[in-house]
Amino acid sequence: MKYLLHTYGCQMNVRDSEMYAALFDSNGLAPARGEDDADLILINTCAVRGKAEDKAVGKARLLCVEKRRRPLLVGFAGCMAQRLGAELFKRVPLLDFVIGTRSASRVPELLQRLRSGETRVALLDPADTIPPNPNQHPSPAPLSAYVTILLGCNRHCAYCVVPQVRGPEYSRPAQDILDDIQTLVNAGTREVTLLGQSVMRYGVSPCDAPHRMTKGSSFNREVSTFKFFNGGEAAVSNPLNVETSLLKLEPFPRLLHAICEIPELKRLRFTSGHPSGCTDELLDAFRTLPKLCRHLHLPVQSGSNKILSAMRRGYTRETYLETLRRLRDAAPGIAITSDFIVGFPGETEDDFEQTRSLLREAAFDNTFIFKYSPRPGTPAALLDDNVPASEKMRRNKILLADQDEVGQSLNDHLLHTTQEILVEGPSLRNPARWAGRTSTNKIVHFDNPGNVLIGELANLTITRVLPQTLYGRL
Ligand code: 5AD
Ligand code: SF4
Repeated sequence: MKYLLHTYGCQMNVRDSEMYAALFDSNGLAPARGEDDADLILINTCAVRGKAEDKAVGKARLLCVEKRRRPLLVGFAGCMAQRLGAELFKRVPLLDFVIGTRSASRVPELLQRLRSGETRVALLDPADTIPPNPNQHPSPAPLSAYVTILLGCNRHCAYCVVPQVRGPEYSRPAQDILDDIQTLVNAGTREVTLLGQSVMRYGVSPCDAPHRMTKGSSFNREVSTFKFFNGGEAAVSNPLNVETSLLKLEPFPRLLHAICEIPELKRLRFTSGHPSGCTDELLDAFRTLPKLCRHLHLPVQSGSNKILSAMRRGYTRETYLETLRRLRDAAPGIAITSDFIVGFPGETEDDFEQTRSLLREAAFDNTFIFKYSPRPGTPAALLDDNVPASEKMRRNKILLADQDEVGQSLNDHLLHTTQEILVEGPSLRNPARWAGRTSTNKIVHFDNPGNVLIGELANLTITRVLPQTLYGRL
């Protein structure tokens, strides 16, 4: 049986798809070359906006038409699967299965039930139960790999469906994370991006040991890791063997220090951030860890204090901008990227103008702009979605144009400078041209006369700049 994955949504979903691929591989399936070649197609869905859901449902319906011509299994995983569950069998009548965000470890059961001819299989553990096994990684190991460290989210922003579909926060044991990264690095990975919805809260809600006890032999190790992240007890437990002075650090900066000690690892990134996680200790990590990349995705959502408060973001325009100043002071040249939501309920023209001025003041290297979409079950869904669609579209376009100007002028300053890149290989569109990424996460294209290799760090002189892309010479 051959499988194919379609992935929508964020990096967390991209990572989950890697995990599904690895689980399928280890359960006797082989990757298909394309849709025509696949016996099973899994659509890994996003629930963050209505449009993302509509797209996934549309895709599944199209694939189900194909089922009239040949045997084919079609199913949903991910956030929409968790949100809508068995309701999806009504929306897509020929759908074969649905698997929720915390049920991936049940892939063997899923396959066995599908093989025995069962239809409409729903594996939907509640979003607050045992998390899946997130340590299955693709082979060959990618040069740049994602490692999930924190599942779920406790933040409860008014617009966001994530706490509903991904459950409360769960921090993976530190030793598991370090083992994962060491395994990846041994197989050739040189850059790791740590993932979590609110990644800097790693270790604040420790792994809930009772669930993990079922894993048997690893129990002792995990309990000691648990203690390790339990504030006061840190001083007596040191399973990671980090320098004793680091033991006093908050869990997230401590984890960053421990990971950076892996010699072959060249770069470390993490996403997404929140201003409350930008503590002095995190800033010190940027100061003292050369492997920690100079880039932070710090979604701001709005520049109006009235809207920020209605969104329950937990910061103001002023404290957000102050956080950027502290970050830039600790890590000069750091690139900051952000997310905005336009058309949140009650957003007036004046609120929007404050968002525009924040975008300029913050000088973001890049931003992602989303039109507000009410999500059932969230606090904001009770508010009147009173900004018309055409107005959301207009605000979206204006912010995009503003960002292009800001991005271009920031990149203009990079012209003729020397930038270090991690060489990623021939670029997708034009294989004659190679590509790599700066520490600030900007893609640089260059001609490779053959003297640099994939996975090396190389220095380039920047010769041309566009808002999203740079060109350079070795
Ligand atoms: N409507 C529009 N955009 C949203 N986002 C999250 N929830 C919503 C919603 N209900 C955006 C935020 C977040 C990004 C991942 O998606 O900007 O940072
Ligand atoms: Fe990612 Fe959120 Fe979409 Fe889920 S709903 S895939 S967590 S962006």
